[in-house]
Parts: sequence; structure tokens; C-alpha cells
Amino acid sequence: MPHFDLGALAYGADYNPEQWPREVWREDVRLMQEAGVNLVSLGIFSWAQLEPREGEFEFGWLDEIMDLLHEGGVRVNLATATASPPPWLSLAYPDSRPVTVDGVRLEVGARQLYCPSDPHYRALSVRLARAVAGRYGTHPALRLWHVNNEYGCHIDQCYCAQCAARFREWLRARYGSLDELNRAWGTAFWSQRYGDWAEVQPPRRAPSFPNPSQGLDWRRFSSDNILELHRAEVEVLRALTPDVPLTTNFLGFLPGLDYFRWAQEEDVAAVDVYPDPAGMAPHLEAGMVFDLTRSLRAGQRWLLMEQATSAVNWRERNAPKRPGLMRALSLQALARGADGIQFFQWRQSVAGAEKYHSAMVGHVPPERSRVWREARDLGQELKALDFLRGARVKADVAIMFDWHSWWALSQASQPAVTPLLPVVGAWYAALRSLGVNVDFVHPEADLSGYRAVALPQQYLLTPDAAQGLRAFVQGGGTLVMGPYSGVVDGDDHVVPGGYPGLLQDVLGAWVEEWAPLQTGEEREVRWADGRVTPVTEWTEVLHADSAEVLASYETDFIAGQPAVTRHAFGQGYAYYLSTRPDAAALTDLLRGAVQGAGVAIAELPDGLDVTLSDTGDGRLLHLIHFGPQAVTVQVPRAVDALSGQPRASVTLHPTDAALLRVPVDFSLRELTARAAASIPT
Ligand code: GLA
Repeated sequence: MPHFDLGALAYGADYNPEQWPREVWREDVRLMQEAGVNLVSLGIFSWAQLEPREGEFEFGWLDEIMDLLHEGGVRVNLATATASPPPWLSLAYPDSRPVTVDGVRLEVGARQLYCPSDPHYRALSVRLARAVAGRYGTHPALRLWHVNNEYGCHIDQCYCAQCAARFREWLRARYGSLDELNRAWGTAFWSQRYGDWAEVQPPRRAPSFPNPSQGLDWRRFSSDNILELHRAEVEVLRALTPDVPLTTNFLGFLPGLDYFRWAQEEDVAAVDVYPDPAGMAPHLEAGMVFDLTRSLRAGQRWLLMEQATSAVNWRERNAPKRPGLMRALSLQALARGADGIQFFQWRQSVAGAEKYHSAMVGHVPPERSRVWREARDLGQELKALDFLRGARVKADVAIMFDWHSWWALSQASQPAVTPLLPVVGAWYAALRSLGVNVDFVHPEADLSGYRAVALPQQYLLTPDAAQGLRAFVQGGGTLVMGPYSGVVDGDDHVVPGGYPGLLQDVLGAWVEEWAPLQTGEEREVRWADGRVTPVTEWTEVLHADSAEVLASYETDFIAGQPAVTRHAFGQGYAYYLSTRPDAAALTDLLRGAVQGAGVAIAELPDGLDVTLSDTGDGRLLHLIHFGPQAVTVQVPRAVDALSGQPRASVTLHPTDAALLRVPVDFSLRELTARAAASIPT
């Protein structure tokens, strides 16, 4: 497979020159040079310009801009331009317009107006991809293909008749027979038995709670169906330009697409990340996505394909990125393994739905713009950081994550509504506060490279995944499992006999009953050392068979019963947490678990982001400070990675960063960090 290598860290943006008159193009290239831009994503939404009428192509303007960029030293991540079909297509082929769960066919006027199953959209998008690849496949500016754009960001499920037919085909391939489908979907319930394939439908709007197994398969199908659409373009590109790498931009924890599966199609994983600058912890929101993106392709370096220079336009209230935050988040992406930093977009639109979305070049002239200055300075700064491309981020600790479990958990009619991402986010934040690198791992992946694996809420667990976890603990690994995990199998059927059905022997404990709390309700647990801490949202009636009890419930009908357990199993340990403790108690539990697993940790002040990466002959310590108070970090054996000067003590103000080189045998235990004010000068 071709390898993406620009020969430098990539820096640039989505470039939409079709929104601007020609005279602006030359100015764009000049400004790109000033900002150190070496890669732009071009033509993403230009289908209507490239093919203004069906079958009539106009490539002249794109030829011109490709040449202009090349002369200016700017390389191109060229889009296949299929992300937004032009109005003529949607009107000539009305079935190409997707249908919502309520049966509404969507109308012309925005983007991503396509049904993934529609043969006309498929044929026309593949033809366009072929035309683009044929024309620019050997252009000297071309470095990467950008296939479509953010698949599934608006339409991740289409409920039309064409999709229904493909769903049936997908189900036939999965189950082989209607009997098997009836078994998997548990259709003995509520008289849902299917007697003919033609009766099987997508889970369209129904009178009451839809069948959850059907809903789960529908999400699987929808992800696979869009993936097939992607593959159709990929095939064309691979056939015409086998040496040009390709990618499509993912969206991190996007509900609709199983990116573990998708990522295997790409030559490099790419992601768009838009943390809310007004949120509690944009660096955790972004960091989680960076770590996921790296994990999707087994640690391979990846691309930050889009982020905002400042505000976006699509939240209810759009906060700007305050001075320094854009740089700090960009450096965080590099620390976590990114090979490039790109923005949406190069020049801020003056018309259209995104005219209030920030860009590298804004509505105010560059010389008057703080955002431009920060973007330009970052581009120049990156030139000195090229050596980062040789670094690898390895993690001893992984959080298990799986779209299928997320989909099953998102079905209606459960003991409580338990959104997954806040739970995963809380565990991620707790682990990151210990300074440890964190991967996200697929349940059926090889776990042997990790010392500890955390399952914040792994509702669905296949027998293979359960077997993998059992072997992991047996072989010396540490498992930390959160509540409402291991409840159902791959068909979304409960594994009976006490929860989690497949892992009770590993945990030495079992759950008899769930007791979700009401919003705002609190209970307490008492830990072995006597501390009493609050828990919220969820409790369980947990029985410890052979497990040691680390904490017990203090209140309610479960007072005195176990809340948290630990079990020695084989060479390893399995922890079970039956409730949601506060951040401090969760961190304490995870600290004990990962330290027990032999993972070195550091105690970090609020907002200090630490990443360790390996360069082969040494290690890099990336320190980026997102907290509100200055901190001082002491690392006895460190030298500054840029100057080579010893740098055993570093003071970081909010959004400051430091990049240190430490010896191969460096351990996080050597790092101390505290509020700068508390260190005598
Ligand atoms: C996504 C899309 C871009 C743009 C931005 C706005 O990343 O790919 O085209 O719409 O969102 O934030």
C-alpha cells in the first residue's frame, strides 16, 4: 500500500478556490508561503463546478489552480469531489435523496444529499472520481487523495426502499436463513416472527420500542453500506493511481461508522477534530480523538485533517479559541502522533452556511488578524519540529472501545439511558491525569501489548472478546471493568446467569440486579481505608464470590454489599466497579490498578498534558499546559529537544508547551509537577 510522506510535517487547510475570483488565487498562494503551508485539501465541494451538467466536465479552473499551487510549492490532497452532489443530480435522480426514519425524503439546498445505496449516485460519483484521477493522477502537486468528505456526518442512515433491499441482502449474507434471523432478532417476542424476507424492514418509525437486535444490525448494515460506497471510489483510485496514497477524513467518536473497520481501507488515518473551546476541557475532548485515531491503525502516524483556527459556526454559541489554544491543541496532536496539522478552512467564506466559521485567512485582512498571526507563526514553528515524524506513541494502558457495543447500548428500553461517551471520557480523563499514554483498543484485538485494559462500559461483549480478556488476565494483565458491562452477546441477547455472564469467573464476582439512580441522586461507598465518597447515576447488587472487596455501599438497600472488587485470576487481576464514583475516587482506583500492573505514572496538576513518545534512540516528553495556573515541571535528566540544553525544570503558563528529550530508560516516576506558585524561587 502506498505510504503518505510529504517529506515534512504537513501544514495547511481545506482550500475552496471556487468560492473566489481568480485574482484572489495568487494572493492565496503568496499567503500560504508566508504561513508555511505545504498541503491543501482541494476541491472537496466542487462537484457542481467540475460537472455543471451531467456528463459535461469543466476541469480548466482546477488545472489552473493545481499548477498555481505547484509553482508555489504547495502540495495537494485532492478531493474526489463527491461529497456534495449538485442539484441536477438530486433532481434528475430523486431516489438519490436520502429518507429519514420518519419517511421524509430530504431536499436540495445543503450537502451530503445522497442515499448510500442509490445506483445513480454510486455510478456518477465513481465516474467523477475516475475523471479526477485520470486527469490529475500524475500531476506533480498531487500527494494524497481525499475521498469524499466526512462520510456519515449528516446522513449515517437512510431508510428508503433501496436501503431496505440492501439491508435484506446484508442480512441474508449474515444469517443465511430466516430461521437464523428470527433467532438472532428474538422475534418470538411481540409476535415479530418473519415468514418471508420481504417482510423484513429497516427500523423505521414504529408504534413503540423497536426491536433492539434489529436496531443493532441496522447500525452495522448502515456503517457497512456507506463503507461499500467508499470502497467503490477507493477501487477506482487504486486501479488508476496505485502509487498515490488515499484517505478520507474521520470524525473521531462519530456514532454512525465503525472506524475500526473503515480505517483498514485507508493508507493513512485522518481526522477532523472540533473540541468546544467553551467546554470544560477541550484538550481532553481533542486528546481522546487523537488517541483513537492513532489506535485505529495500530499506532501508525496519522493526519489532523481539519480543526478550526478559532470559532466554528455550528454550535448554539460558538466561542473563539483564545490566544494560544489553537497552537497548544496542534502541538498536542503532534505529540499524539499526527504527521500534519490542517484546518477547515484556508480562506473564510463570505457567503454560505459556514461564513462565520473561522479560517486561516479571515474576514479581516491578515495584517490585522490575531488568528492569522497565530496560524502563520505555527506554520513557521512546525518547520523545526520535523523530527517528530520519526516518533512513535506506545501505550501500556488501553481503553476498550467498540461501535457495536455503543450501538447496542444506544437502543431504547434499557434499565436507564446511559450515554457512553461521558463515561468513556471520565475514565480517559482519570487515566490521563496520571500522565499515562492511552490507546483505544477493539475488543477482539490482541491485548498482549498492554499491561492494563479498562472497560468503562462495555455493554456488548462477544464470546471471542470475553475469551481474549480472560486470556489477558490469566497471562498477567490487569482488567478494570465498569458497570453495565458484558451484559449482552453479539446479537444483543442477555447472557443469563448473573452479569456479566461470560466473565464472572475472571471477576470472582457477579451482579444480581441493577439499581440505576435518578438524576441528581447520590449514594455513598466506603473504601477499605475508611474514606467515604459519593457515587451517582448507577449502582448494582454485586456479590463477591472469591474477589476481595475494595469498597462497599454505605446507603440504601444495598448498604454493606460490595461496590468495588478485585480478583486475582491467573497471573493477573480483574477489578470490577459497579457504580460511578466521582473523579477523585475513580482516579484513585485506576491509579492503584495501573500501578499494580507495573505502569509508571506521574501526579499531574490540573490541565497539564503529558505524552511520552519513542524515537528509537531516546524518548520525547511532550508537556503542554491547558490548566488555568502556571505549573513547574521537574525532569532531572531532560534536555530541551530543540536547543539540546539541559532543562531539568520548566515553568509553563497556560497554553505553554515544552518538548524535552529524555533517555531511553526514562520513567514517568522521575517527573514531578506542581503549581508554580508552590515552588520556592
Ligand atoms: C467538517 C467539514 C467541513 C466543514 C467543517 C466545519 O469538518 O468537513 O467541510 O463543514 O466541518 O466545522
